[in-house]
Amino acid sequence: MCGIIGYVGGKKASEIIYRGLKTLEYRGYDSVGVVVDTPKGMELRKGKGMVEEVSEALQFTSMDGTTGIGHTRWATHGVACKENAHPHTDCTGKIASVHNGVIENYQELKEGLKKKGHKFSSETDSEIFAHLVEDEKKAGKDTFQAFLASLKKLKGSFAIALLAEGERKIYVARKNSPLVIGLGKGESFAASDMTAMLEHTKDFVPLGEMEAAVLETGGVKFYSLEGKEIQKTPMHVDWSPDMAEKGGYAHFMLKEIYDQKHFVYESLATDVSAANALISRYKSVHITACGTSYHAALMFKYLSQKYLGKACDAIIASEYPFIASPDKDTLVIAISQSGETADTMKALEHAKAKGAKILALTNVVGSSITRVADEVVYLNSGPEVSVAATKTFTSQLAVIYKLLFPDNDFSEIPKIISDSLQKEAEIKKIAETIKGKTDVFFIGRGLSVPIAMEGALKLKEISYIHAEAYPGGELKHGPLSLITEGVPVIALAPSDETVYKMLGNIKEVRARGGFVISLNNSQEIAKESNISINLSSVDPLLHPFAMVIPLQLLAYYVSVARGINPDRPRNLAKSVTVE
Ligand code: AGP
Repeated sequence: MCGIIGYVGGKKASEIIYRGLKTLEYRGYDSVGVVVDTPKGMELRKGKGMVEEVSEALQFTSMDGTTGIGHTRWATHGVACKENAHPHTDCTGKIASVHNGVIENYQELKEGLKKKGHKFSSETDSEIFAHLVEDEKKAGKDTFQAFLASLKKLKGSFAIALLAEGERKIYVARKNSPLVIGLGKGESFAASDMTAMLEHTKDFVPLGEMEAAVLETGGVKFYSLEGKEIQKTPMHVDWSPDMAEKGGYAHFMLKEIYDQKHFVYESLATDVSAANALISRYKSVHITACGTSYHAALMFKYLSQKYLGKACDAIIASEYPFIASPDKDTLVIAISQSGETADTMKALEHAKAKGAKILALTNVVGSSITRVADEVVYLNSGPEVSVAATKTFTSQLAVIYKLLFPDNDFSEIPKIISDSLQKEAEIKKIAETIKGKTDVFFIGRGLSVPIAMEGALKLKEISYIHAEAYPGGELKHGPLSLITEGVPVIALAPSDETVYKMLGNIKEVRARGGFVISLNNSQEIAKESNISINLSSVDPLLHPFAMVIPLQLLAYYVSVARGINPDRPRNLAKSVTVE
């Protein structure tokens, strides 16, 4: 939800900001803007569209100057247009700020500022901030004191960066929205995530909740929002910039699908012993997450119940505060690729307030979730750029399998993934049969249900085709009325204890004219299907790994066949930092 980058140092700020914005574009891509403190004064360029096209039209990188901030937007308040794009300035044009989050009391603050004569040019909640600082400065405060005083007036969430003409400083602060500080030699950076700064530094300080910082060429000072200086310890990460590059693939999504065969090794090598001991100490376990991570949570629940006989609850994070009653005897496992999802953070806040213990599974070192968790397991999937989660899902599964079955040998998993990747050409052809459809159904039973749900989510989010998943047995309780001539039904029917029930479901669908595409490893299922995707025969416990890859590839190729950029689906963002 919106990407922020700021730079102060000796290099051309506009170039560093432009490259950073391109990396951050996954966070929002409806409009973009840059402000640079140039030798002739503050210069602002912004417009509607993606980073490259707006920059080409407005020549972002032609701006001189060594201090600047930039923003790529995911609209919350106000449509995507030039006026609503960030940065926003005060009435004098000498103070500029960018914001990620939601300022809940902005209407009230805006009214107060209007009465004092401030003029606004956007519909956003964010624009008030530069004006608040202007107002505080008029009352005699220096920029930093005015910045802190303005932050105190905000209700809601924010990651904010601000600069004032001629100062060679960037002021930043955060509450419930991520912001990471990058430390360089004679230069300092701030960005919504580390990947935007990786080509310049590998030393970072994730800004803590309710903390502020002042960035200068000589270094960074950290403060509480009350203005008290605090000491922070930098961390060093060994991600390389090319880990976030496309590496010859047409899209990040395809690269990340292929990445799975390598990164799953890393995930399987993750030390989960402390987390494992924690899980075995608790009788009551809740798993909470959103989207794809929620499907991993469901896998945890299904596996735990089926194979270990241990019941646990998987609860969608945005619902968690309303329906879950954790207490001090509850272990809450939060799964989040980004570690920044606002709904998941809220669920954890609720759990923590009730005294529950928190275990987090995340991919991002130093992310917000790691700071509230009592124990953290890292997925080690490397940066995931495409909005559609792929490799982090298989990493989540790998880690979950290790957590639940510490004594099993899972060395077969990378080969299972590689075998499924061999299906690429076959799947590309199948995508052609689906690209013109309006509805697609996914069915499965047992362990295949969360995978069917993941297949449907992947397809709908990047192809805009309506897709739904059901346990096979549920078809006859309603959805079967939607199955008419030619409606595609993707049946996950591997050879396990569910196979004959699935065979029955496939026959039901075919009898109504439905077009069955099945994932199977048996002749019987293949024979009953219109199209059969043959999976290699593996231990049924590992079928999810074999099935999810073809579903990811299918979503990818349907998206591409429909002329959509799968990395940047409309209305979505990679890191969902609003509730
Ligand atoms: C998946 O393809 C999604 N784009 C989305 O559902 C995502 O999994 C969800 O927003 C949760 O994100 P997180 O794992 O970073 O918390």
